Amino acid sequence: MIELSQVTKKYSNGFEAIKNLSLSIEKGEMVFLTGHSGAGKSTLLKLITHLEKPTRGQITVAGDNLTKLKLRHIPRLRRKLGVVFQNPQLLPKKTLFENVALPLLATGSSYKECAKSVRASLDMVGLLGKEKQYPPTLSTGEQQRAGIARAIINRPQILLADEPTGNLDPELSAEIMHLFEKLHQVGTTALIASHDLALIASMHHRILTLDNGVLINDQKIS
Ligand SMILES: Nc1ncnc2c1ncn2[C@@H]1O[C@H](COP(=O)(O)OP(=O)(O)OP(=O)(O)O)[C@@H](O)[C@H]1O
Ligand SMILES: [Mg+2]
Repeated sequence: MIELSQVTKKYSNGFEAIKNLSLSIEKGEMVFLTGHSGAGKSTLLKLITHLEKPTRGQITVAGDNLTKLKLRHIPRLRRKLGVVFQNPQLLPKKTLFENVALPLLATGSSYKECAKSVRASLDMVGLLGKEKQYPPTLSTGEQQRAGIARAIINRPQILLADEPTGNLDPELSAEIMHLFEKLHQVGTTALIASHDLALIASMHHRILTLDNGVLINDQKIS
């Protein structure tokens, strides 16, 4: 589902953030990505979402070879991906419903189709009934779950998350991880960057460790 072959990413200032990295993530796998600050976790996620391009090597995501991807096919790639950030970046003056519906409205779905999907998505994250609330009136954990609801509204094949629990207390962090686990159980492939070692170890999934752009450990746990 995600395939990297000898990928190197050198930023324009000459800094090599990813060094000759090869990696394969199968369909339906749930994988954690860890490593020190500056190890290259966000860079790796940006390469997979095609926000950054590799300097060398090949990347294939859900059947698309990113090195050969035409500009007009980028939306097709993005529709296969759900992305969750550390800060959910919700629009404060839009309701929870509108925030979650945004990616769907962008694809031209009807309001009726939208409403059904938004409710299904909110139900998944336990926010059903709060559709009319504005983000500032939601708790931090609820806002983070809203960001996840928005990421999964298009039923993406792949879920990518960059430090999704970075701002949350241990209890909420565990709650978010279990939500990802639930998505994994319905077949979503997930790659989650986190430096919360204790939490990710408790999840019993594969863990990739980066150190200065090098993949130093690939720990498969069944
Ligand atoms: N646009 C850029 N230009 C130059 N260097 C960059 C750029 N983006 C990131 N870097 C560098 O690449 C390295 C990896 O950064 P990255 O953000 O991928 O690390 P990270 O593992 O996500 O760290 P953190 O845990 O702090 O989020 C860092 O040394 C960073 O300074
Ligand atoms: Mg990062």
